[in-house]
Amino acid sequence: MIIMGPDSLLLRLACTLIVVFYLVKKINRALTVRQFKQTHGCLPPASEPRKDPILSLDALPGILHAARHDGILNYLQAAYCRNGSTFLSSFLGSNDIFTIDPENIKTMLAVKFTDFELGEKRRAAFHPLLGNGIFSTDGAQWEHSRALLRPSFTRTQISSTEFHERHVQSLIRNIPRDGSTVDLQTLFFSMTLETSIDLLVGETVDSQHSASDDFAEFAKHISHAQRMISLILTFGVLSKLHCGSGFKKSIRVVRGFIGKYVRKAIQNRTSLDAEKQQRERYVFLHELVQDTCDEARLTDELLSILIAGRDTTAGLLSMLFYELAQRPEVWERLQTEVGTLEGQLPSFEQLKQLKYLSWVINETLRLHPIVPSNIRTATRDTVLPVGGGPDGKAPVFVSKGQNVVYTVYAMHRRQDLYGPDADEFRPERWATIRPGWAFLPFNGGPRICLGQQYALTLTSYTTVRILQTFKSISNRDPGPWKEWLGLTMASKNGIKVSLVPK
Ligand code: HEM
Ligand SMILES: *[C@@H]1O[C@H](CO)[C@@H](O)[C@H](O)[C@H]1NC(C)=O
Ligand SMILES: *[C@@H]1O[C@H](CO)[C@@H](O)[C@H](O)[C@H]1NC(C)=O
Ligand SMILES: *[C@@H]1O[C@H](CO)[C@@H](O)[C@H](O)[C@H]1NC(C)=O
Repeated sequence: MIIMGPDSLLLRLACTLIVVFYLVKKINRALTVRQFKQTHGCLPPASEPRKDPILSLDALPGILHAARHDGILNYLQAAYCRNGSTFLSSFLGSNDIFTIDPENIKTMLAVKFTDFELGEKRRAAFHPLLGNGIFSTDGAQWEHSRALLRPSFTRTQISSTEFHERHVQSLIRNIPRDGSTVDLQTLFFSMTLETSIDLLVGETVDSQHSASDDFAEFAKHISHAQRMISLILTFGVLSKLHCGSGFKKSIRVVRGFIGKYVRKAIQNRTSLDAEKQQRERYVFLHELVQDTCDEARLTDELLSILIAGRDTTAGLLSMLFYELAQRPEVWERLQTEVGTLEGQLPSFEQLKQLKYLSWVINETLRLHPIVPSNIRTATRDTVLPVGGGPDGKAPVFVSKGQNVVYTVYAMHRRQDLYGPDADEFRPERWATIRPGWAFLPFNGGPRICLGQQYALTLTSYTTVRILQTFKSISNRDPGPWKEWLGLTMASKNGIKVSLVPK
């Protein structure tokens, strides 16, 4: 016979206390949230009904189907069409808010900037490669990086166009002159890797010709590392199993390659400083090394800029030429505008005067934003101004730790914002529209893209030089456009075209 001793009594008491404590905490939290919602007039946004409340895998078949057929971006756009521009959706147990309301995005990225952060998931995915660089940190660490990098970005603005010309020439050399098919996307990705390395460490590498083995290895492993990061971002810890040692090796190769330049610059710091006055162009590393000699830190920041700037600019150029290849009328109008340069190499001032070109670039970024979807996590209980209630006009409560997904791709195609022809490529619309926060290719607020001006200059310069060299372009891709989604967006089948020289 078992007699209940004082020990088990104590145990039962302890268990009861724990349960009571937990319940009190839950109730307290529920009351706080209710009070908070009442104070701010929050109403719930539309939400998808769930059949599977535990893992919330309801959306999985739809997502997998979309990935194979119409694409994830179209799937997301359709979800907003059906459910409104702010709604709640759960996947894998995470109850996320989705929004394409400019007011909400502005609130998250600017007005209530400190109520949101990149979050743990993003940090975990990027940290192995980028350490504590600007692209993976929040709060004071991020502020420190931003303060360190910003001056160098401002200074690159006054660098000479020679930099661009050198790289564009090597690109143009690789475009066939006999009208045979070429994949411009591959060429643009090579070019932006070369321009990035040149901008960051001041070294000219040519991936098409005389490529050093080191550089070829680096190029291979940076792509591999990015693929792994994007897997970890999508599938979380599960993908860690899959990444394993391959990821580690890529990180070693990539950091080793950049690290060599960093060590050299640290050793040579004083002479770099002395000759600073005579330099006509700015190399990032040479600027940064004046502020810090921390090797890991410098490698973190240089790699972060590389990841942030390389594929994005290549993606923009690719989508721009994808559109041009199907639109002879746009190509002709651009040719006329570029003709005003009378065959001269454009200066930065002249590039800024090319109004139609800037419309074409904005229209490309509108229909094909290279960072099509993004996410932030609430750092505290907070409120987004719209999207709640039956009419979607009431504020929406965001719980501390909750994710908010914002899908720039779908926002840029909203007919109520851009008109019934929102899905069409029509550069002329930029003559009249001023979309404000409804147009967000470079993000906004304190974390707005640091490389925007540089990217736009490189894009305009490259486009002008190709237009000056070739008289026509035609599409050589038989199939429909298909998305490729990694950390950024690109075309799955490349951009296959043929060009006829002047
Ligand atoms: C068409 C080209 C580009 C596009 C569309 C683009 C877009 C973006 C976007 C959307 C973000 C915000 C990411 C986030 O906070 O989640 C961002 C951040 C950033 N971009 Fe760009 N970018 C481009 C080119 C560049 C280039 C060429 C560079 C550098 C040379 C660059 C450097 C950065 C940096 C350093 C950040 C982080 C800023 C911060 O967190 O404070 N970007 N960019
Ligand atoms: C949102 O769209 C999904 C997918 O079609 C649909 O099942 C769901 O009912 C919609 N939710 C709301 C709240 O309208
Ligand atoms: C160090 O700087 C000097 C002067 O700019 C340059 O001539 C030399 O090649 C540099 N050395 C290294 C190792 O980069
Ligand atoms: C293009 O978009 C940018 C924002 O990225 C904006 O500053 C600029 O005014 C737009 N250009 C035109 C011609 O509207």
